[in-house]
Amino acid sequence: MKRRDLLKAGAPLLLAPWLPGCGSSTSGSSGGPAPGANNIARGLHVSWTGDPHESRAITWFTDGLAAPEGVVEFGQGRFDKTSRATASQAYDSEVLTHRAQLTGYDPEKPLQYRVRHGADSLSATYTLKPMPRGAFRFAHFGDHGRSEFSRLVRDGILQRGVDFVMIAGDLSYANGDQPVWDDWFNQVEHLSASVPVMCAPGNHEEQDGVGAAYKTRFSHPGNGRYYSYDLNNVQFVISTGGAFTSDGTLLAELLWLETTLAQAAARRARGEIDFIAFVQHFTIWTDEEGRSPNNPTLVLLEENILLRYGVDLLLVGHDHEYQRSHAMAFGQPRETGYVQVCGGGGGVGIRTFSGQSAWSAAQHLRYSFIEYAVEGRSIKAQTWAVDTADNQAATGLTKIDEFELAARSGQARNEAVHPIRDAGTLLAENRANWRYVEAHTRLRNAEHMKQTIWHLHA
Ligand SMILES: [Fe+2]
Ligand SMILES: [Fe+2]
Repeated sequence: MKRRDLLKAGAPLLLAPWLPGCGSSTSGSSGGPAPGANNIARGLHVSWTGDPHESRAITWFTDGLAAPEGVVEFGQGRFDKTSRATASQAYDSEVLTHRAQLTGYDPEKPLQYRVRHGADSLSATYTLKPMPRGAFRFAHFGDHGRSEFSRLVRDGILQRGVDFVMIAGDLSYANGDQPVWDDWFNQVEHLSASVPVMCAPGNHEEQDGVGAAYKTRFSHPGNGRYYSYDLNNVQFVISTGGAFTSDGTLLAELLWLETTLAQAAARRARGEIDFIAFVQHFTIWTDEEGRSPNNPTLVLLEENILLRYGVDLLLVGHDHEYQRSHAMAFGQPRETGYVQVCGGGGGVGIRTFSGQSAWSAAQHLRYSFIEYAVEGRSIKAQTWAVDTADNQAATGLTKIDEFELAARSGQARNEAVHPIRDAGTLLAENRANWRYVEAHTRLRNAEHMKQTIWHLHA
């Protein structure tokens, strides 16, 4: 469905301005900011920069640059702990980003928190579930935006009660208009204040100061651009996929990926983890009309790294639809390959397919998100549409796909263990000329930006 059709259907893409408190009505909340209070904490989102069990990063915003120091009051049953926030200016905005770390709690029990700014501004109270030690569930989608479908995806995930969320880039579509980020965070708060949300950046994040808004508004591990964390038996590796290629750090990131995935493969062979899940914004392969091949130089280089170390699951967005592959390699089904899941139907729009390739196991032009249940050596996934078959808002969730991924055998794990390559070897083995890879990636981001603007206004 195109934007004009949404407007015809009475479904505005841009939300009315957020009202304080409207994003705080989670089941775990009570109270709320006093009417008229200054320095209201808004756009609350929970993530982690350290251990996913034993630490939580709380991030939020206040208007203007003069808010008093923010404090998170937290505890388990009573508010007996505090964490003072650090504040910094959000990119190109008269907005402060506040960040606080919660540690020292019992990771096996629920945790309550609230945010205070001075004497007269106190947020609602939110409850965070403990992160399970064994089986866990998470949701994935990308290409969110601020449509009624964006809100349905948000609410559907909340309804499913997952343990955390991975957003595969293209978040607010601010494209240089910073207040859009505030609206987007206010919209997401309904979910993100009580369920941890982790992100990968997309090409639209590059539009705000080469990712400066993204970096100054989220709290992620490591350098905040690409990072990795373990959750029980899964190692998640998050890449920019070249979203910020104009900052000149893409080669350094590819070397980090090479090292991180080589170590992950060795850990999997030793039985320390069962799965490697790779998250980035960009599809490796796609059947979206006009999008394939999707930047062949960088994609080929990346795909070679993913295959060499036996990445199990590739979670992406960018192409605005749902498409899930068989285990594949180089655009053909291959049992030892990776399963790509494109969750680009997060809300901003839906495009069209040009056909169905041999690697494609399921594809739907639906607004949707994917829920993964990790249990032992199995990942069971279900894809939930939030719309009807003709892209009208639905009142409930419809399951449009499900699949199961089994952990690799011992032999397949051993076959994915390889020495780490340096930059020269990595490029030579893939016959890649770095100048072309960089130039091609820049071109992809610019071209796809034009396509998106066209789609949004068509
Ligand atoms: Fe997108
Ligand atoms: Fe994108």
